[in-house]
Amino acid sequence: MPKLNSEALNKLIVALDFSSKEETFKFLKRCNDESFSPAMVKIGMELFYSEGPEMLREIQDMGFKIFLDLKIHDIPNTTASALKAIAKLNVDITNIHAFAGKAVMKAAADAIKEVSPKTKLIAVTILTSMSQDMLRDDLLINTTLEDYVLKLALNSKEAGLDGVVCSAHEANLIKKQCGNNFLTVCPGIRFADTNSDDQQRIMTPEKAIASGADYIVMGRAITKAL
Ligand code: C5P
Repeated sequence: MPKLNSEALNKLIVALDFSSKEETFKFLKRCNDESFSPAMVKIGMELFYSEGPEMLREIQDMGFKIFLDLKIHDIPNTTASALKAIAKLNVDITNIHAFAGKAVMKAAADAIKEVSPKTKLIAVTILTSMSQDMLRDDLLINTTLEDYVLKLALNSKEAGLDGVVCSAHEANLIKKQCGNNFLTVCPGIRFADTNSDDQQRIMTPEKAIASGADYIVMGRAITKAL
């Protein structure tokens, strides 16, 4: 059983980065058998593209809340239409890229509110696999990573979104600038003694929560341990 206290478990979103329905349900059944109850599970592109939307209902029927992490990035009209389709799936959280701009985010927020007001819409700021050097060398962005994330968070707030996906390193600053109700969902979480894999900006669960994370997203550190 992964070593998490009850506060961390209540804020934990487990990333179900599995390639098949069989592996996913094997893991979820194990969670239920061992009374391991995270706040939510996250379905990403791999599982959604391979198994389709039908399996979401089955996961909800097992008692799990869902964060559907499809990181949508397109023009306003296409994004709004995609979000209307997603809203019908009755998920608890879904997301788009803040990089698409305020007009896209506003169209997306309006679309979600129209179909499923309970679904929270959050925006991905800068991926936690990205470092300051990558931002400068790959994207020619010369502001600090922190300033850039903050600008994207403020844009998301102005567009009417409920929060952002960010590194726990930026959660505190985002809370200060965007308000306490603005959700911070933080991936890149690792136990002190585990490997960072492909993540660059990592933090332990306890530190991330102390830094203002409303939710901590953990994939491999949990799925490989349970
Ligand atoms: O295995 P690990 O804990 O690194 O998994 C992190 C999860 O969070 C993955 O599913 C990844 O897609 C997701 N994620 C991320 N960084 C973001 C947004 C989502 O790592 N900025």
